[in-house]
Amino acid sequence: MGALSHSARLRIELFSHHAFEAIVKIQNSSAQAAAWSEADYQRLTADPEAMVLVAVLEGTTPPEIIGFAAFHRVGEEAELWNLAVAPQHRRQGVAKALFQEACRRLVRAGATRLFLEVRASNAPALAFYRAAGFKTLTRRKEYYQNPNEDALVLACQLVPELAN
Ligand SMILES: CC(C)(COP(=O)(O)OP(=O)(O)OC[C@H]1O[C@@H](n2cnc3c(N)ncnc32)[C@H](O)[C@@H]1OP(=O)(O)O)[C@@H](O)C(=O)NCCC(=O)NCCS
Repeated sequence: MGALSHSARLRIELFSHHAFEAIVKIQNSSAQAAAWSEADYQRLTADPEAMVLVAVLEGTTPPEIIGFAAFHRVGEEAELWNLAVAPQHRRQGVAKALFQEACRRLVRAGATRLFLEVRASNAPALAFYRAAGFKTLTRRKEYYQNPNEDALVLACQLVPELAN
């Protein structure tokens, strides 16, 4: 789909408050992403177990924030809590770059497994997670509301080589 991969012009960095406005826009155009408030992001920034990464496209003035991913880690187990890429920038390796950087940081921090929950009908996300090496662990019946839907619980192993 994407004519040109963004990877050469992407910078992945930790969330800071100036990114919030761009993240809200991405959340608003991504119904499958959790719609978090500024207070939610402030709480996560202050939480040593949480990590929010943003993908910044360089070469625009100012550099454009085009995706984000939020994780939480307790000991060896990490969880993906939120993820979205701006619709016009999908299929250009942005989520992949966010995950690569997240895995590096999570492994360095001691994580060995990464878990997530996803709506069973979210085909693009499922395709992304499977391509990233996730396997389905279980199905949680009618886990989501509005609309009611099952969740799939996916997991992947984080190997030390990812830290490099
Ligand atoms: C899921 C999502 C984050 C993927 O982001 P992305 O930046 O487009 O993904 P990438 O470009 O890094 O994709 C990497 C690989 O994943 C797979 N993939 C990603 N999106 C796909 C799709 N729509 N259909 C099929 N495969 C897909 C492909 O193998 C792709 O590699 P390729 O483009 O070389 O074929 C994006 O579709 C999104 O923001 N969706 C809305 C929010 C959402 O659903 N969040 C997850 C909630 S659990």
